[in-house]
Amino acid sequence: MASERAADRRDQAVRAAVEQGLLGEAQPVAALLDVAGIRSCAAALRAAFAAVTDAPVLHAFAVKAAPLVPVLALLHAEGIGAEVASPGELALARAAGVEPGRTVLDSPAKTPAELREALALGIAVNADNPQELARIDALIASASSRSPLGLRVNPQVGGGAIGALSTATATSKFGVALRDEGARDWVVRAYLDRPWLTRLHTHSGSQGLPLSLMAQGIQVLYELAEEINTAAGRQQIDTLDIGGGLPVNFTSDEQSPAFADYARLLKERVPGVLDGRYGLVTEFGRSLLAKHGTVLARVEYAKTAGSRPIAVTHAGVQVATRTVYDPASWPLRIAAYDPKGSPKAGPAVPQDIAGPACFAGDLLAENRPLPLLEQGDVIAALDTGAYCFSNHYGYNSLPRPGIYGFVTGAETADGTAVRFATVRSPQSLAEIVAESGGAHPDTLLTP
Ligand SMILES: Cc1ncc(COP(=O)(O)O)c(C=O)c1O
Repeated sequence: MASERAADRRDQAVRAAVEQGLLGEAQPVAALLDVAGIRSCAAALRAAFAAVTDAPVLHAFAVKAAPLVPVLALLHAEGIGAEVASPGELALARAAGVEPGRTVLDSPAKTPAELREALALGIAVNADNPQELARIDALIASASSRSPLGLRVNPQVGGGAIGALSTATATSKFGVALRDEGARDWVVRAYLDRPWLTRLHTHSGSQGLPLSLMAQGIQVLYELAEEINTAAGRQQIDTLDIGGGLPVNFTSDEQSPAFADYARLLKERVPGVLDGRYGLVTEFGRSLLAKHGTVLARVEYAKTAGSRPIAVTHAGVQVATRTVYDPASWPLRIAAYDPKGSPKAGPAVPQDIAGPACFAGDLLAENRPLPLLEQGDVIAALDTGAYCFSNHYGYNSLPRPGIYGFVTGAETADGTAVRFATVRSPQSLAEIVAESGGAHPDTLLTP
């Protein structure tokens, strides 16, 4: 049923993935994406902003969160564009059919060639710093462009719980640090000198930022836009790009905070942003995808060490790199299934869920109470739809797992079975060899 809960859909999909052989001895790790979940999340994002503003809003999905062409095409079909931060991400967005007018290029290190391509295509570009703006000056002097152009500023409102993802700290590498001496005046002058600079951008950070801090960053952005427009004597800045960063709840199936919570907070704290005078761009990544992905892995062995039970599985650092290296910041929920893919019952026993990589820290969860896992069981790492498929870690030459989108029940053609579509095929050993210099085995013997 369309309304069935995400957890029920997931349970159906896990069983079907085992039955249909997506997960088995030959492929002991595989990832699933809940198509209905992604669709409804995209609709919730659109509805959340439509409820608080009549202004045109481009929701541009941060491709880094799930750089998969079929995912970008699905989001595109749901009215979501693309925020890209490298030539590779731009190529993916183009392959998915996302139009230049629905694509935004941000990144701290754009080369002249990248800028030239974006300007030729008419893709929106947010310059990161004065040197990049000078490059854009030169490029548009030599060839006209339809690209909407803006500047990224760092509102320096402070960091969140995860330092590595906090981009509005005093010394963050992103954007023009607005509170530094002379910076604000420089920004205002830069706009007055460039009538074609019509956008202003900020992104204060990702997971771990309180909503109030995100709103504070946008307040700074808004006040700066007003100041520039006043100085220009016209509405030179017509669009505010407010970035992404909505955090995800990694402790339950609940989608909280919701996009609607954030939109309402913005309406309350920074009403001018939503009063219709400015078009908007958003760049959400994690909040659109994380809850809709599940990594499955077979338990290859069950053992004990120091009396602690350990399930040695095939999912570890290669798929959940952040969790393995920084488990305190990135705890993952784990669900236990039996060898047929049915939810496993039994008393909760604290145990480690280990990955296949050759170092001791390769653990998805430590001392986690779960029904005691046995050889042949299946574990599911939940909420892994964002920043897992982009963060594949090639240690031990572990392959990138296959990724399969699924639809269940009433959404399928026959109304019952679970249907899968391949989003990304499992990486083959031949591909690993080829990516690892396999074409040049003798090159070091006779340099
Ligand atoms: C400029 C920019 N926009 C958007 C995002 C997406 O953030 P999130 O996935 O937290 O929504 C990022 C993430 O790094 C970013 O750097």
